[in-house]
Amino acid sequence: MSVLPILKWPDPRLMETCAPVEEITDDVRTLVADMLETMYAAPGRGLAAPQVGILSRIFVMDVGWKEGKSDPLVCINPMLQEVGDERAENDEGCLSIPGVSATVSRPSRVQMVWTSLEGARYVQSFEGFAAACAQHELDHLDGVITFDHLDAVARSAIEAEYEAQA
Ligand code: NI
Repeated sequence: MSVLPILKWPDPRLMETCAPVEEITDDVRTLVADMLETMYAAPGRGLAAPQVGILSRIFVMDVGWKEGKSDPLVCINPMLQEVGDERAENDEGCLSIPGVSATVSRPSRVQMVWTSLEGARYVQSFEGFAAACAQHELDHLDGVITFDHLDAVARSAIEAEYEAQA
């Protein structure tokens, strides 16, 4: 396994729509192992394949590991199946936009379906921070970052803050 370099915004690969995974090959298994190692080394709670330059619909997340409640999820071809009406705001960081966090409003409850590394179909509901994290990672697979959720004023302010410290 190896720790991969994480692309930083505004790398154009972070703005691409990723392609579905057709088959779980050894290359996919190696990529996922490397992505998990990269996420933990960063250290972060989620990492999507385009953040390491691979434009495939794969992300990993482990929302509780920093609190000793590790539960790594490997999500291949994830899709939202149900989205709740209520919304919640979270301050979201991103390993590709280090040093700043954006306040993003998202549905507070979602149900996601995905394929595991073993090829099994999973359906799970997420709420709270896990719901925000899953949607954040899913966004990466469609070339969407936290800044894209902000209005023009908030976006210019945070872009200026990011550029000032970069
Ligand atoms: Ni991110």
